[in-house]
Amino acid sequence: MAETRLSVDDLVAPLFIREGIETPRPVASLPGVVQHTRVSLRSEVTEMRDLGIPAVILFGVPENKDAFGSGAWNPDGIVQVALRDLRDEVGDDMVLIADLCVDEYTDHGHCGVLDGRGSVDNDATLELYTQIAVAQADAGATITAPSGMMDGQVAAIRAALDGAGHQQTAILAYAAKYASALYGPFRDAVDVEIVDGGDRRGYQQDPPNVGEALVEILGDIDQGADMVMVKPALAYLDVIAKARAAIDVPLAAYHVSGEFAMVQAAAANGWIDGDAVGMEHLLSIRRAGADFILTYLARRAAELLGN
Ligand code: PBG
Repeated sequence: MAETRLSVDDLVAPLFIREGIETPRPVASLPGVVQHTRVSLRSEVTEMRDLGIPAVILFGVPENKDAFGSGAWNPDGIVQVALRDLRDEVGDDMVLIADLCVDEYTDHGHCGVLDGRGSVDNDATLELYTQIAVAQADAGATITAPSGMMDGQVAAIRAALDGAGHQQTAILAYAAKYASALYGPFRDAVDVEIVDGGDRRGYQQDPPNVGEALVEILGDIDQGADMVMVKPALAYLDVIAKARAAIDVPLAAYHVSGEFAMVQAAAANGWIDGDAVGMEHLLSIRRAGADFILTYLARRAAELLGN
């Protein structure tokens, strides 16, 4: 009689690949999550495939950062290298999603180019995003997922992909991404420290607003997004539900680093049953209306759900 089901098919595993390391490095604030080497990433993805997980999303940690984040579109940048490795390893058995942003690659930690006053220059950033999208598609990404919340990013990326012969590469738009305090552990995972205290309110959504989020979502679909995302998930279940009622393209939710870390920390103290709470969270995100979930629990949930 269950009205909602959670299946391994609904899960996308976020994975971190770090350039220039010999052994995987644990991320202290995300227990069980590591910065992978090229070798460890291959085996992790193979194991995930065997567990039935259909997709992974890759984040790169470059050896060197610069003002523009050039490692993000360099054909030899770490994510492009990893995409080619994984295509070689798992063929078409796994959907490979590449997060498209520059914050992991810039020395200032923002999701775009800075103008003379230290604000992100939206239109100059779009130019970089188009280069990243083409580099990712050239390297074998099935889906590119722009996460920087620049205005017009989906239209710009769609045009660039089509122009480069990548009509088949899909776009998963981080459409309603809130300026949330729940991304803290992620920034440890990608070694990002944002200058001037880390304020992204200029380009991410304001937590009190839901109507604005729907405008962003409909705008991204209009620009050509194949799938849209709400992020974070649990504190924004109402946004997921309202988006579900308004649209009929696939809807994703990102159960983000802070949401994962809170469960792990409480479980490590013996205060809650981490597996049970984790599964309840994922089921609730599905009940709110998400078709699929990006979550650091993907591997554990796949083990618990069976294949
Ligand atoms: C930006 C990006 C972020 C996350 C995913 N993509 C960080 C941010 O916007 O600050 C956060 C994901 C998480 O917290 O798990 N490239």
